[in-house]
Amino acid sequence: MKLFSIKDSENLEIKEVHDLYKKFVNSGQVELISKFGFGNELVERSEKNFIYTKSGKKIFDFTGGIGVLNHGHNNERILKARESFANLKKMEVHKNYFSPYVAALSHNIATVLPGDLNISYLSNSGSDANEGALKLAYKYHNGKREYVLNSSISFHGKKVIASNITSSEETSYFKFQQNVKSLAFEYNNISSIEKLVQETRKNGQSNIYAIIVEPFSASSLLSCSKEFLFQLRKICDEEDIVLIFDEVYTGWTKTGELFYFMNFPDLIPDIVTSGKSLGGGKASISAYTCREKFFKRAYGNLRDATLHSSTFNALGEETITAIEAVNILIEEDYIKKSKNIFNIINPKLKELMNKYPKIIKDVRGSGTLNGVVINTDFADKYFQPLISLIPSKFAKDRYAIKKILVTSIISSLYDDHNILTFYGSNVDLPLKISVPVITKEEDLTYFVDSLDKVLARGVVNNVTKFLKKNIFK
Ligand SMILES: Cc1ncc(COP(=O)(O)O)c(C=O)c1O
Repeated sequence: MKLFSIKDSENLEIKEVHDLYKKFVNSGQVELISKFGFGNELVERSEKNFIYTKSGKKIFDFTGGIGVLNHGHNNERILKARESFANLKKMEVHKNYFSPYVAALSHNIATVLPGDLNISYLSNSGSDANEGALKLAYKYHNGKREYVLNSSISFHGKKVIASNITSSEETSYFKFQQNVKSLAFEYNNISSIEKLVQETRKNGQSNIYAIIVEPFSASSLLSCSKEFLFQLRKICDEEDIVLIFDEVYTGWTKTGELFYFMNFPDLIPDIVTSGKSLGGGKASISAYTCREKFFKRAYGNLRDATLHSSTFNALGEETITAIEAVNILIEEDYIKKSKNIFNIINPKLKELMNKYPKIIKDVRGSGTLNGVVINTDFADKYFQPLISLIPSKFAKDRYAIKKILVTSIISSLYDDHNILTFYGSNVDLPLKISVPVITKEEDLTYFVDSLDKVLARGVVNNVTKFLKKNIFK
């Protein structure tokens, strides 16, 4: 029996990794990702906002680990904290003893959040945090209310319950078993919420236990207006509906404030969920944080005190990593750094939009999370004949042509400029730039200059190059 050691796995060639993925992980993933340059290379190491490949390339990581890397790859302070924890053989699993780390991290989260957002439950993923928040809201109403409202463009995760409240077409086109009664309101449209509140009334009472929304939608780079958010707050107060803000992606300084909702003083949700960069790029840790009144009524008695928990929540090293991650972003003023990034990149992207008005339709963003919407309106008209030539497994997706267009730009950025980017799989498929907060001005300038060069080549040339290399090879 041959088992790989860690060393063996680090010595595998890309072809061997592809083959093992095909056999033991997910063959479709290999087919999809190997269409890109990055799908055909392995990584040696990563540091700050750079990835170093085994083939010797230095890649600019403009994905920020899809939201996880506010602190950059392998942040020195976080590495030291983890090393010290391991070297001292601190206790990892704490199920019977109280964890001083859980106590401290929950205190710290309450201290930096406004109002009485004081009680945190630590979990592992963003979906966990959202599902925990929904459970709490349901329990707060003692199971007496039936509905949860989510927005028309929501993305709250891929676990079953989280996918029940996700409307983003990328994941919701296939309906998994519906375990919660969810209804979608139009994003940023208060009358659409008012209508659903009225329509679901039962015996004159509200029948909605929670409304969940991303104040800034990371997957589409769209945001809710101040008026919408305050009116939503008012409706939830009047109807005693638990208001949940999903800031899994946008939390922890990503959008230029500690949390996006903190752009609006006095606007406080009943529960906020966070994750991603809470783990400093090293730990899978997430949280829901709720106002005391809600926690007390839901779980504040002996019988219900352990109604919501899981085996791996708040392990020692995960929790100390999050303590260090939060302290770093406060001490090193990540809020200011995040705002600076926006102030540098946003005008540069707008200049590009003026230069290429036919290619760039919109520039969106906040803090370190930015993007351009590539004009794909004409894509179907011009590239439709291609559909019949593209293998059916790709052409099945009704956005195939639009995606190929955005993807061709992502591919050129990687192949010709060593830049890693991605697109938002939601409204308009924006080309996203989601950088670590520590990214320097010169790297942002390099990105914009490189995008300029790619766009100067023209849409048709980029698409043709991509198709020749990947689909019709
Ligand atoms: C806004 C939002 N909510 C929830 C999630 C789900 O988080 P996870 O993938 O950690 O379950 C994500 C993930 O991208 C997200 O962007």
